[in-house]
Amino acid sequence: MSSDVLEGDADGDAEKLEESLTMGIDPWEKNWMRFSVVMLLIFFVAVTVAGFAAGYQLPGDDGKVDPRTVTQDGPWAEPGVTEIAPGQFEAYVLAQAWNFAPREIVLPVGAEITLYITSPDLQHGFKVTDTNINVMVVPGQVSKMSFTFDEVGEFPYICHEYCGQGHAAMFGTIKVVSEADYAARADEQSTDETTDATADAEAVDTDDTAASENDA
Ligand code: CUA
Repeated sequence: MSSDVLEGDADGDAEKLEESLTMGIDPWEKNWMRFSVVMLLIFFVAVTVAGFAAGYQLPGDDGKVDPRTVTQDGPWAEPGVTEIAPGQFEAYVLAQAWNFAPREIVLPVGAEITLYITSPDLQHGFKVTDTNINVMVVPGQVSKMSFTFDEVGEFPYICHEYCGQGHAAMFGTIKVVSEADYAARADEQSTDETTDATADAEAVDTDDTAASENDA
């Protein structure tokens, strides 16, 4: 009995040896190999769809800036929104420890906006709720993103890359308002600016008088 078993084992070993010499692959190993190939195909399709159909991109293709001087020279020295053509806007946004400049972006409904975002200090993030705007903001690099706002509403934006103590305080809002509200706001602002300018001029006058009085 025991010798039978031994003989059986010996036969089995011989078969296995022959199988391994003829590149016989263990069925389990074969299955794992199939599984890896299927996974690679799935990843390939996912990356292709994300890159070409869904618009996922790596940061860095949209220009470089010097983070040490970006707040002094160029468009980020005065961050904000400008209308470059009817219904087309561009915004230069600064993500810095620990706030966004500007904190509020107001757009008329239907506006197409292109955002150029950079950071003078740390790595930050810029994600706008209810949109596919979601970028990393890397010092020295410009993250660019376009989006059309077709609905009136408030779209908060947040920093979603942990950047230190004040990380949670980094947020702002894109306000999308009706054409009429937008026009009314624009009117209000231009009146404000005129009033401010007058006030400033008066302030300067008073300062001058005070200064000359001191001199005398
Ligand atoms: Cu900036 Cu988190």
